[in-house]
Amino acid sequence: MKTYRIAVIGLGQRIAHVLRAMDEVGWKLNVAGYVDPRPVGLPILAERDIAPGMSYPSIKALFADGPFDLVMIGSPNHLHYEHLLAAFEAGYPIFAEKPIVRTQEETYALARHLAAKKIPPLHIGLVMRSMPIVRETIARVDSGQLGDLVSMDATEHLPPEHGGYLARNWRRKEEWGGSYFLDKVCHDFDIFGRLTRARPLRVASFGGKRIFNSSRTDVARTYSDGSPAYAMRDAGWAGANDAFHSDMDVADHQTAIVEYSGGMQLSFHSNSHVSLGERRWYIAGTSGTLIADLVRNKLMVRGAMDKNKPERIDYAGRTDDNHNGADQAMATDLLAALEGRAPFPVTVHDSMEAGLTVMAIDRAMRERALIDCTSMWEDYDAARAIAT
Ligand SMILES: NC(=O)c1ccc[n+]([C@@H]2O[C@H](COP(=O)([O-])OP(=O)(O)OC[C@H]3O[C@@H](n4cnc5c(N)ncnc54)[C@H](O)[C@@H]3O)[C@@H](O)[C@H]2O)c1
Repeated sequence: MKTYRIAVIGLGQRIAHVLRAMDEVGWKLNVAGYVDPRPVGLPILAERDIAPGMSYPSIKALFADGPFDLVMIGSPNHLHYEHLLAAFEAGYPIFAEKPIVRTQEETYALARHLAAKKIPPLHIGLVMRSMPIVRETIARVDSGQLGDLVSMDATEHLPPEHGGYLARNWRRKEEWGGSYFLDKVCHDFDIFGRLTRARPLRVASFGGKRIFNSSRTDVARTYSDGSPAYAMRDAGWAGANDAFHSDMDVADHQTAIVEYSGGMQLSFHSNSHVSLGERRWYIAGTSGTLIADLVRNKLMVRGAMDKNKPERIDYAGRTDDNHNGADQAMATDLLAALEGRAPFPVTVHDSMEAGLTVMAIDRAMRERALIDCTSMWEDYDAARAIAT
C-alpha cells in the first residue's frame, strides 16, 4: 500500500481521532504538517506515536510544500468554506469534517462553485454513514421490509460532561459553530433524508438555553462520587472557562418536527445534560417497525403483523465516545474511495442538504414559526444549476 502524505488544516481533537482511526485500520500515514494556531489534537496523536509533521504559518506555506495525497480539514465550522476553497485551489483530494459549511449563503455559494468548476475528490466526515448499524438500517428500509415510512421519532441526549464541553468550546457561539443542531445532529438529519429519500417540506422547532444559563442558582459542581463536573476536557481554541458563565448563544436543548415531501413525519428531541444518554431512531413504516439504538449499538425490527419475537442484532463494539467503531469504519471507507474501489458513503450534495435541513429547523426555532422549505430548495437547486 502506498504511504499517504497528508496535510492538515485544523489539527483539533477530531482530525487527531480520525488520523488515529486511519492508523488503526492500516493506512500508511505520513502527516507532513499542519496549519493550526492552537493544535489541540497534538496529545491525541502523541498517544499513538503519530508524528504531526511541521507546523506551517499559513495555508499558502503548507500547500507550497506539496504535493499531498490528502488534505484534511478539521477547523471550526465557520472556517470550512474558506478552507475548502483554498484546498480546491491546491487540487489535492480532501477529507473535510461536517457540517460542510456553516450558513445557507455559504451552501449556495458552494453549490454554485461545484456547478461551475471541477474540484478534487471531496469527502465529508458524516461518520454515521459508515456505521454498520446505520448501513443495516438503510438497507432494511431500502429493501421495503418496513413498507412506506410513515413516521419516526429520534433522539440525541448527551451527558452533562459533553454538554458542559459544548458550552465552553467554540461551538457555544453561532458565529463559529453555527448552532447546537448544526454541529451535533446534522449526521442524523443526513440519515433521515437518506431513509425517506425526500427533502423536508415544512419544519417547526423549539429550543433554548435553559441548562447552561448563568441565572441558575441550583447548579451542582460535583458528581455524587465527589468528582468535579464540567471541567474534564480542554475547551480548546477560543475556549471559555465556565460552562454556565460563558458567552454561549446557541441552544443547549431543542426539539423539532419535520414533514418530508414524501409524507414521512419526524419528531426529534435533543438535550445536552441528561443522566440517561440516548441516541435512538424509532422508524415506523406501513408494514414494519425498526428501532436503532445508536448508543447501545443494537437494532430491533419486526413486521407489523408478526407475532414472533422481534429480530435483534447486537453490533457490540461499544466505545466510550459513543462512536462505536464508526471512525475506523469511515477510515476504511475513505481509503476505498481514494483508491477507487468504492464510492464514499455520503456525497457532497447529501452533506449540503443535511446542513440546509438543520438550518431551516434553526430558523423555525429563532422565528418561532412554521417554515415552508420550498423556496430554500428552489434557491439551492438554482445554485446547483448555475455555472458562475
Ligand atoms: N464527525 C464527527 O463525529 C465529528 C466529531 C467532532 C467534531 N467534528 C467536526 O470537526 C471539526 C473540528 O472539531 P473538533 O471537535 O476537532 O474541535 P477542536 O476545537 O478540537 O479543533 C478545532 C481546531 O481548529 C483549530 N483552528 C482554529 N482556527 C484555525 C484556523 N484559522 N486555521 C486552522 N486551524 C484553526 C483550533 O486551534 C483547533 O485545534 C468541526 O467542524 C466539528 O464539527 C466532527
